[in-house]
Amino acid sequence: MTLGKAVTKAVIPAAGLGTRFLPATKAMPKEMLPVVDRPAIQYVVEEAVRAGLEDILMITGRGKRALEDHFDREPGLERTLELKGDRDRLAMVREASELGPLHYVRQGEPKGLGHAVLRASQHVGDEPFAVLLGDDLIDEAEDLLTTMMEVQRRTGGSVIALIEVDPAQISAYGCADVTPVAGETYVRVNSLVEKPAAGEAPSNLAVIGRYVLHPSVFEVLEDTPPGRGGEIQLTDALQTLAAGEGEGSGVYGVVFKGRRYDTGDKLSYLKAVITIASERVEFGEELKIWLKGFIN
Ligand code: UTP
Repeated sequence: MTLGKAVTKAVIPAAGLGTRFLPATKAMPKEMLPVVDRPAIQYVVEEAVRAGLEDILMITGRGKRALEDHFDREPGLERTLELKGDRDRLAMVREASELGPLHYVRQGEPKGLGHAVLRASQHVGDEPFAVLLGDDLIDEAEDLLTTMMEVQRRTGGSVIALIEVDPAQISAYGCADVTPVAGETYVRVNSLVEKPAAGEAPSNLAVIGRYVLHPSVFEVLEDTPPGRGGEIQLTDALQTLAAGEGEGSGVYGVVFKGRRYDTGDKLSYLKAVITIASERVEFGEELKIWLKGFIN
């Protein structure tokens, strides 16, 4: 019985091609794009660790070696900084490698998010698990993942994170049709559709890159044919679970009101960099003064 089992594992899919961010992503993973002074993926791993998930599996692929190197020790660089007595930079360099041992599996071919998640089945086994997309940043002050893990524990199903978007933008996202649950802050997901055409979307609730999934999703993914864009879509597997009955079925949504950025999208990436930079004690105030002048 999976109901009530604690979530201990996080899966971070980072094997996508990042075509929306070309040409920067021609020879560099989009997850390595710097957000101020650390790569986007480091914020995502830190979020998982903050939520108590220390068993982290990253799904990578060809051209993604920089991700593994970033979370590994760098003895040569560390020695140089040590000899210089540069303790601050040494601490910063070590931060990423101290987030705990990360595990990696390669996707083989980027056949879609659903296919990437399926690659985690052996590592995850028969337990609920979290999925954090490697290019999706959630504000550090938020505890979205913890809330979602609690909803998973109470419902025994799978949990997705939703945001309200301008109806004109819904066709860039997975979209959910939901019903409120009496006395609860989460909603029940009736159906899901990946990137619906404008006018055919059942709501303006868009799926974002955090999930807490029941392991029965793996069986469903095995039988999920390629969908939108010829890719095996996680949204399609979740639609099956939402419509199903029995153990592991049922999909619930947590509507997120906080700040979140899709760093795989150029404009959203720039907003992330400016927002996070403007909150840094070292230069945030100076940046804001400069921005005001620049805009005027
Ligand atoms: P995206 O659709 O944002 O990634 O997938 P993408 O395919 O790299 O983006 P574009 O559209 O080409 O710019 C969401 C997440 O799923 C991962 C991505 O790395 C990202 O974290 N993903 C996507 C995989 O791991 N494998 C895939 O086959 C597809």
